[in-house]
This record gives sequence, C-alpha cells and structure tokens, in this order.
Amino acid sequence: MIRSGAAKNIIVMAGAGISTSAGIPDFRSPGTGLYANLQKYRLPYPEAIFTIDYFRKQPRPFYVLAKELYPGQFVPTACHFFVQLLAQRGLLLRHYTQNIDCLEREAGVEPGLIVEAHGSFHEAHCIGSGCGKGFPQDWLREHIFDDRTPRCDECGSLVKPDITFFGEGLPVRFFELIEDDFAACDLLIVMGTSLQVQPFASLVGNVGGSVPRLLINRERVGETVGHSGGFDFDGKRSADSVHRDALVLGDCDDACLLFAEKLGWAGELASLRAAFTVRKGLEAGAGAS
Ligand code: OAD
Ligand code: ZN
Repeated sequence: MIRSGAAKNIIVMAGAGISTSAGIPDFRSPGTGLYANLQKYRLPYPEAIFTIDYFRKQPRPFYVLAKELYPGQFVPTACHFFVQLLAQRGLLLRHYTQNIDCLEREAGVEPGLIVEAHGSFHEAHCIGSGCGKGFPQDWLREHIFDDRTPRCDECGSLVKPDITFFGEGLPVRFFELIEDDFAACDLLIVMGTSLQVQPFASLVGNVGGSVPRLLINRERVGETVGHSGGFDFDGKRSADSVHRDALVLGDCDDACLLFAEKLGWAGELASLRAAFTVRKGLEAGAGAS
C-alpha cells in the first residue's frame, strides 16, 4: 500500500514497546516491566506511582522514578526513526504515543505531527486546587535531579510534570485531533503497546471500517478493545477483516527495519541514526567546552 501510494494518511499508535530497546522498561512485561520492579518504593499497588490521589500523599516515589526515566538520556530506536521516515515522505498523518520519553521528538518528528496522549515532561504545573501555576521545564528538571520535591512558590503545593496520571484527563490536544485524524486515516500501524489503557486503546476502532490495521508487537493484543473495534486477525467476526487486520508477532525494531528494507528506505534509516549520533556527540562536546 505504501509503495503504490494507496496509503498517504498513516496513523501510528505507539506504546512503551517501541522504547524498550533504548533501555527504557515497558510497564507490563512480566519480569522486566516497570510494574514488576517497583518493590523498593513500597507501593500499595504498582500503578499507584502514576495515580494522582496517591501522588498527592506520597510524591517521592514518582520523582525518584522520574529521575531514572528523565528524557534526554536515551537514544531513539529503529521504530522512532521509521516514524520519522514516514513523516519526511509526507505519509504520516499523526503519531499517537502513550510514551513520555520524548524519543519521537528526539528522532526528529516535528511536534505538530505528534500527539503525546499521556502528556510529557515539557511542561509542569502546580496541582494545588485553584492555583495551577506553570513552571519551566529546566526548573523542574533541576529539582528532580537534585532530589528536591518541586513545590509551588505561590501556594506550596506539589508541582508535577504534565504527564497524565491515572485519575486525570488526557491532554486537550488528544480530544481535539482524534475525530478528524481517524476519519482521514488510510492505514493504521500499532506498535509496542498492550492496549490495556483507555481511552487510547479504543482508538484502534476509530478508523473507517475497511481501513487496514497492522499490529507489530511481541504479544497478540487488542482483540477485545472497544465495542466492535478490536483487531480480528483470524476473521472470526467477519471474513473481510482477515484481509484488513494484520499481525507481526515479534520485535518492533526488527519489523521496522524489515519494512524499511522492503520500501527501499534502509539506507536512509541508517543515515538518520548515524546523524543522530553525530549531533549528540557535537552537543556533548559543546556542553563540555
Ligand atoms: P505496556 O507495558 O502495557 O505494553 C508494552 C507492550 O509492548 C507489551 O505488549 C509488550 O509485549 C510489547 N513489547 C515490549 N517490548 C517490545 C519490543 N521490543 N518489540 C515489540 N513489542 C514489545 O505499555 P503501554 O501499552 O505503553 O500510562 O502502556 C500504556 C500505559 O500504561 C502507559 O502509557 C502508562 C502505563 O500505565 C500511564 O502511566 C498513564
Ligand atoms: Zn500553586
């Protein structure tokens, strides 16, 4: 479809699986996922670390984890650069990500093409009721790296990066764009997500009824999300969807490298990765001088 020009408005939906090869753990993989490795924080349940009510009472676990995961310390993966290749060719309608690592921005995807559905570290606000004062990213970063709990200078409440916690609404931008985007989509690629968190997961069902959907993931997921919108890889619900829904069961970097090769983009993908390394090296050099 991409080669023939039939897919010109591609939406990518991504999750933590596209960043695991960068060294960032995902959430739910048994053994390696973040939720299986939070013992030191003594949480009542793993998701508490990203739950707003718990955070108001016990903010430290989140800030300690935020230091470990803070953007800027990781290199984008083949998946991120593949998305940038789609963007460069004008084929990317939008990249919807649940990730807060900013690796799509690092790979060069322009912010206008990205929807950070669960927010990001780019902005921070006071969570005191009636306050909501904004704080600069650098200020927050310094606090997190110095192990100081960031507090509002006006009301004394906690300052939290604009990451969507359980118990909070998704960013306005998400709701502003989904309707038109998914109506215009002609190919949906879903990568590296367990599709367990709503409302993100249900977006799989928001594309037109005959729009092809491709899942690239280590495990088979998304067959029961939404009313009728889940993947139907085996055509159990309708014989047509056998042709509509496709599954690549495996590593998403491998799949993206394979697709790049089949599309004749392998050299360009390698160049993007090399250019990133050079750029980072130069920045590091400039920082040291
Ligand atoms: P999950 O950890 O739930 O799912 C990651 C998926 O990616 C799993 O199905 C893995 O099998 C798969 N995976 C991991 N590495 C992979 C690789 N290299 N290649 C292919 N597949 C791989 O992460 P998300 O679906 O992103 O929200 O989680 C969704 C939301 O839950 C997160 O945004 C976060 C979390 O709680 C909030 O904190 C609000
Ligand atoms: Zn305040």
